[in-house]
Amino acid sequence: MIRINENYTKLKASYLFSDIAKRVTAYVAANPSKPVIRLGIGDVTEPLPPVCIEALHAATDELAKRATFKGYGPEQGYAFLREAVAQHDYAARGCQIEADEIFISDGSKCDCGNLQEIFAQDIRLAIPDPVYPVYVDTNVMAGRTGASVDGRYQGVTYLESTPANHYVPSVPSVATDLIYLCFPNNPTGAVATKAQLTTWVEYAKKNQAIILFDSAYEAYIRNPAIPHSIYEIPGAREVAIEFRSFSKTAGFTGTRCAYTVIPKALLAWDHQGQPHAVHALWNRRHTTKFNGVAYPIQKAAAAIYTAAGQQQTSQLINFYLDNAKLIREAMTKLGFSCIGGDNAPYIWINTGRDSWAFFDTLLNNAQVVCTPGAGFGQCGEGHVRISAFNSRENVEAALVRIAAALK
Ligand code: MLT
Repeated sequence: MIRINENYTKLKASYLFSDIAKRVTAYVAANPSKPVIRLGIGDVTEPLPPVCIEALHAATDELAKRATFKGYGPEQGYAFLREAVAQHDYAARGCQIEADEIFISDGSKCDCGNLQEIFAQDIRLAIPDPVYPVYVDTNVMAGRTGASVDGRYQGVTYLESTPANHYVPSVPSVATDLIYLCFPNNPTGAVATKAQLTTWVEYAKKNQAIILFDSAYEAYIRNPAIPHSIYEIPGAREVAIEFRSFSKTAGFTGTRCAYTVIPKALLAWDHQGQPHAVHALWNRRHTTKFNGVAYPIQKAAAAIYTAAGQQQTSQLINFYLDNAKLIREAMTKLGFSCIGGDNAPYIWINTGRDSWAFFDTLLNNAQVVCTPGAGFGQCGEGHVRISAFNSRENVEAALVRIAAALK
């Protein structure tokens, strides 16, 4: 008899954003005359930068000719893209990352979800709360947690982000082995200073642990004192893996391209205490289970690093940041305490009310979709996240409707 992986039965019935999409679809079906504005899932709305479109066309034309046709590409990504990333995202910021330490992929969601499989079953996890649900759910699927009790999985050290610590958790008092961090943060939009990240790198060194650092939103940082990469912190090459994505940087949520950095100096140990290079393990996994990103998509991603590409992507990001500013100002004016939106595309609003009830109020009375904080973890209760990814017209209309609905 075929049997299931029973760890799946510990999960909530559906993924947070699928759950929200289902509720919104039901509302739209019941209220066809009331147009809904979606500021829930962080999905971009503006077209790809022109340099990316030109590169996509040119690369597609190459595939039309025998002389320039491409079949399977390198699973780790083409050298032209890995080199551009190493030079522009790392060397330019003083970080020592080689092109062959960069693994091109189709998304950070997949990479941060898959990476845990190269580590032992019984490692100790440290996961933020609130958190991007993928970090937790993929470890539950792998059987690395106990059951969910009162909304928390047993065996996980939760790193609480609350108003008291300005939504940036401190290192825990217990030892852990695999630590998930995300800055600028999803869902709170909080950023971490160099000093704060230094305490994490020191903690990881002391505990022979590894930090999985998700910096998918680094392009939104406008405060020059805030680090964009964990590798700006001395010693991070020995303890950290970094995830980056072109999704929110250049509008690639549908196009799909991202990358993961694994320095060759990063070690993990076997049960006999023998060290192994994590880079080699991930390379083995990636080449066995992943086919690479399509050549035209990688060409489009590389175009972002040209002078015109840099100018066009920065214009795109500024556009969403201007939306974020409008949202934060409007919600503050309504009397809510908010963070995020200044170095991140998300605004985290402390509503002081049940977050699903607040979600329902906005959906039913304003036809605006937000994301209820409780969906990101226990510490998210009392908050909602509003995303800045939409047209200016929709953001402005949503804010007028929210103000009227909450009066
Ligand atoms: C979000 O809304 O949290 C993001 O869109 C999720 C993602 O990037 O997968």
